[in-house]
Amino acid sequence: MLGSPQSLGPARSATQETSDTHMATTTPSPSTSTGPVTFERLGDVFVVTIDNPPVNALGVDVRRGLVAAIDAAEADSAAKAVLIVGAGRNFIAGADIREFGKTPQPPSLPEVCLKIENCTKPVVAAIHGAALGGGLEVALSAHYRIASPTAKLGLPEVALGLLPGSGGTQRAPRLIGVKPAIELMLSGRHAGAREALSLGLVDRLGTDADADADADARAEGLAYANELVAAKAPVRRTREAGALADKEASRAALEAARADTAKKSRGLFSPMKIVEAVEGALTLPFDEGMALERKLFLQCIDSPQRAGLIHAFFAEREVLKAPETKSASPRALESAGIVGGGTMGAGIAVAMLDAGMPVTMIERDDTQLARGRANVEKVYDGLIAKGRMTPEAKAAVMARFSGSTSYDALAQVDIVVEAVFEEMGVKKAVFAELDRVCKRGAVIATNTSYLDIDEIAASISRPQDVVGLHFFSPANIMKLLEIVVPAKVSADVVATGFELAKKLKKVPVRAGVCDGFIGNRILAVYRQAADHMMEDGASPYDIDAAVRNFGYPMGPFQVSDLAGGDIGWATRKRKAATRDPKARYVQVADRICERGWFGQKTQRGYYLYPEGARTGVPDPEVLAIIDAERERAGIKPRAFTEEEIMRRYMAAMINEGANVVLQRIALRPLDVDVTFLYGYGFPRHRGGPMKYADTVGLPKVLADIQEFAKEDPIFWKPSPLLVQLVERGADFASLNQSE
Ligand code: 3HC
Ligand code: NAI
Repeated sequence: MLGSPQSLGPARSATQETSDTHMATTTPSPSTSTGPVTFERLGDVFVVTIDNPPVNALGVDVRRGLVAAIDAAEADSAAKAVLIVGAGRNFIAGADIREFGKTPQPPSLPEVCLKIENCTKPVVAAIHGAALGGGLEVALSAHYRIASPTAKLGLPEVALGLLPGSGGTQRAPRLIGVKPAIELMLSGRHAGAREALSLGLVDRLGTDADADADADARAEGLAYANELVAAKAPVRRTREAGALADKEASRAALEAARADTAKKSRGLFSPMKIVEAVEGALTLPFDEGMALERKLFLQCIDSPQRAGLIHAFFAEREVLKAPETKSASPRALESAGIVGGGTMGAGIAVAMLDAGMPVTMIERDDTQLARGRANVEKVYDGLIAKGRMTPEAKAAVMARFSGSTSYDALAQVDIVVEAVFEEMGVKKAVFAELDRVCKRGAVIATNTSYLDIDEIAASISRPQDVVGLHFFSPANIMKLLEIVVPAKVSADVVATGFELAKKLKKVPVRAGVCDGFIGNRILAVYRQAADHMMEDGASPYDIDAAVRNFGYPMGPFQVSDLAGGDIGWATRKRKAATRDPKARYVQVADRICERGWFGQKTQRGYYLYPEGARTGVPDPEVLAIIDAERERAGIKPRAFTEEEIMRRYMAAMINEGANVVLQRIALRPLDVDVTFLYGYGFPRHRGGPMKYADTVGLPKVLADIQEFAKEDPIFWKPSPLLVQLVERGADFASLNQSE
């Protein structure tokens, strides 16, 4: 802990060096601790250290500590400047997100920032690691800023449904101008230290950063503060900075941002509030601008979008905490093999190559192998065509790729992912070969979408090494990786799956073995609900529009056209024999597929894609097919409102989500949420289907299902988990604690 006097080695010596000329004041004062904020005077400089692991978030104790520290600095007549530093890997990651939605505890962060800015002695912020959101706002309230070269600065509140609420919307434009300030706020991106320097967000770059970056930041901050003292540098308040002087340019930048936000913010609440708050910086005195910012910030805090986005933030970190990642360490993951070079095999190969791994691909014969390699190269050629990769970089990546038609080439790899045809016989034959050639301890994974992984594992001599790694298409782009855990797998193999996800920058979700695992199993159910509505009177275009208006990038029929209708058709034919004959079966998709209309690749599916267009147009012939099917089924079509479409669509998704949790296919509701956010385009600001269910209220969801069950009791069976939770007055969130 850097705040403790014992660990101040490098900082002390730096002070000693820089304050030799001020012998009278070099004696450090005793370190004082106010919870996570400690302070001591080193020579002329009053050093305030925030030590609130893991990321120095600005919780109530930190806020109180900062106020106490500034008071103490004011009271210490020997202190000529104040230095604020963070202990550990970051300066300050921002407000404590866990406090949002709870009763606010004084002092508020804007008050703390004002206190810092009003300090009568020059205040220096020495930034290393993250200075994000409220963290950057604290730094902006200081009078001088130094950042280590690897520091990251940003105002990412928009990603949480918020706006910078501690003066960021008022101080940042005054310091660096409207255009760059509002761009940082609307994008939420993290700027590197060099960019921050060129923008004027910081005054100076430190010289070094290593594992001990907090010590470096502290030492360099001290040196800077002593320099400022020696130069008798004045207090310099950001609220008095002059970057808004050119009123015309500021107004033009604001209006451009407003127009852009209106076009792009797609139903999000906080981006326009950011524009409004920054407008306040242009038009109002600082105090009134701060009051406007506060009002708008509280509106954002109250919005369900904020709750959804913050749920998503924590859920995507919580999914990493599976029982196996806690109990076991991953195996080696230096090299990989892929069996099958089709859509998925090639995509997975690219993901692994991009992560720096050497990849060996196995195909059936030389022709297929050449096609597999071409599938991989196509991805990189696309990047070259867009100017995002050089041919030399492609050559360097492809040097790590090799192909073979002999399984012996996989003898030394650490992990193999099988991505051959979705047929049990073919998979078992491949696994027999892998059992024969792979070294002991190699992880043997399958990318199957639906097949029983326990059966695949049982077919070889080492079921403990077999795991499901279910990638999503396109596998080099889609972030979700379902880690499917069969009965006999070793914990360290599961942990290796999570490690691979980290290496590939994917979001892993632990899933149990069942037909479709978490995502595709739930998809199959709400997709049927969509088909039912289509046959009952809603057009696929109405349903897609409702789903898009809910926040998805595409509706289910557009997705089907994109993926290719033939895939679902083959699955339906395979399952026809085992389908409950009493269950409702909508045949529209079969009629469309029988005509060879498989979607985009055949230029028509539910939509028409004239001349290979990516966006489809409604097809009157499809509407005629649907009419004929309604007639055949004896259904008199009725109208559906958008609201009813979404009620049914979501009720089907939530109900099956509850079954998946009940059967422990998903560990917790949040695992379902993350699956849908990262694999199925579920709108992030709604937090995921289970979070959405909590927002709507489980009694209401259950009542909907019970109402729909009156028409179709086979399809609409309330999940026992949903019923139990409603009886107990509980919600899905109550099941989200990690185990
Ligand atoms: N508040 C509370 N907890 C936080 C937090 C925050 N602001 N930021 C991170 N954490 C927690 C994480 O949940 C995680 O907890 P866990 O270990 O129990 O799962 C732990 O800190 C470590 O976080 P990461 O796993 O994300 O660590 P990394 O090293 O990968 O990343 C980071 C560090 C870049 C700082 C990243 O955590 C991050 O981006 N944090 C959020 C930054 C942010 O959005 N700040 C703005 C907050 S809103 C605000 O400031 C409002 C103000 O304007 C009033
Ligand atoms: P694909 O048909 O595009 O590719 C399969 C490849 O496997 C072909 O190149 C074929 O030559 C090769 N192959 C077949 N038998 C082989 C053998 N014995 N040895 C070596 N190579 C062999 O299929 P796709 O779409 O890539 O699917 C592969 C697997 O991934 C399937 O299990 C599928 O269910 C699963 N999957 C598919 C997704 C998708 O969106 N296409 C998404 C997630 C999983």
